[in-house]
Amino acid sequence: MKTRDNTILISGGATGIGFALAESFVKLGNNVIVCGRRMEKLEDAKRRLPSLTVRQCDVSKESDRRALFEWVEKDFKDLNVLVNNAGIQRRVDFTKGTEDLLRKEDEIDINFKAQVYLAAEFVPLLSRQKEAAIVNVSSGLGFVPLTVFPIYSATKAAIHSFTMSLRFQLRKTTVKVYEVIPPTVYDTELKGKPIEKAEWTVSSSEVAEAVVKGLGEDVFEIAVGPSKRWLSSSKTELDQAFGNINH
Ligand SMILES: NC(=O)c1ccc[n+]([C@@H]2O[C@H](COP(=O)([O-])OP(=O)(O)OC[C@H]3O[C@@H](n4cnc5c(N)ncnc54)[C@H](OP(=O)(O)O)[C@@H]3O)[C@@H](O)[C@H]2O)c1
Repeated sequence: MKTRDNTILISGGATGIGFALAESFVKLGNNVIVCGRRMEKLEDAKRRLPSLTVRQCDVSKESDRRALFEWVEKDFKDLNVLVNNAGIQRRVDFTKGTEDLLRKEDEIDINFKAQVYLAAEFVPLLSRQKEAAIVNVSSGLGFVPLTVFPIYSATKAAIHSFTMSLRFQLRKTTVKVYEVIPPTVYDTELKGKPIEKAEWTVSSSEVAEAVVKGLGEDVFEIAVGPSKRWLSSSKTELDQAFGNINH
C-alpha cells in the first residue's frame, strides 16, 4: 500500500495513537481527516496540525456514522483509507452483576460494533478507488486477556477475528485490510492519563512508525514491539502469559 498521496480518515484521531498516526501521515504528504466526540480535543489537534480536517462524530451512534459517511462521500470523494482506531477501556467487575456494565459506556458498541459498521459503510466507496485500505486497531490484549478489562479484551479478540474475515472477503477488491496490534502504549489517554514508561510499553509515535512501515511493506498483521510475540506463540505460551499478567 502506498503511504503518501492518500486521503485518510482516522476515528479517534485527535489524541493518542490516532493523533500520532495523523502526524506521521501528514508528514508523508497525505490528506488526513480525524473524528472524535470531544470538540476541544479536535480543536487542539487542529491547532497542533493545521492541515488536518476535523469532524465531530460519535462512532457508536448509527446516525453519526451515516452522517460521517455522507459528508465524506460528498466532500472527500477520493477517500481511500479508513483507520478504525477509536476505542475506550473500562474496568468491569462481574462479581457486582450488571452494575459496572450498565454504569459505563458500552465498549462493545465503541470498540467492536463501530469498527464493523464503519467498515461496511465505507467498503463501497473504498472499492471504487484504485488502491485502498481499512486499518483496524486491535490490541495485544485480544490475544492474552487482562481480566480486569474483560469486555475490552474480548472486543479486541473479536476485532482480530473480524479483520481476518474482512480481509478474505475483500481479497478480490482494491481494498487491503490491515490489523494493528499495539502493546501497552504509555502516552495516550486510554487509561485517563499517560502511564509510566516500562520495558513492555511503547510510545504512540513508535506505533505510528510501525504502521507506516507495515502498510508500505504490506504486512497485514502489524504487531508492534512486545506484541510481536503473540503472533507466533503456542497455546502453552499464551496460557503462561495469561497467568503472568493476571494474579
Ligand atoms: N493505549 C494502549 O495501551 C493501547 C494498546 C493497544 C491498543 N490500543 C488501542 O488504540 C486505540 C487508540 O487508543 P489510545 O491508546 O490512543 O487512547 P486515546 O488517546 O484515549 O484515544 C482514543 C480516541 O478514541 C476517541 N473515541 C472514543 N470513543 C469514541 C466514540 N464513541 N466516537 C468517536 N471517537 C471516540 C477518543 O476521543 P473522544 O473521547 O473525544 O471521542 C480518543 O481520541 C484504541 O482502539 C485502543 O483500544 C491502545
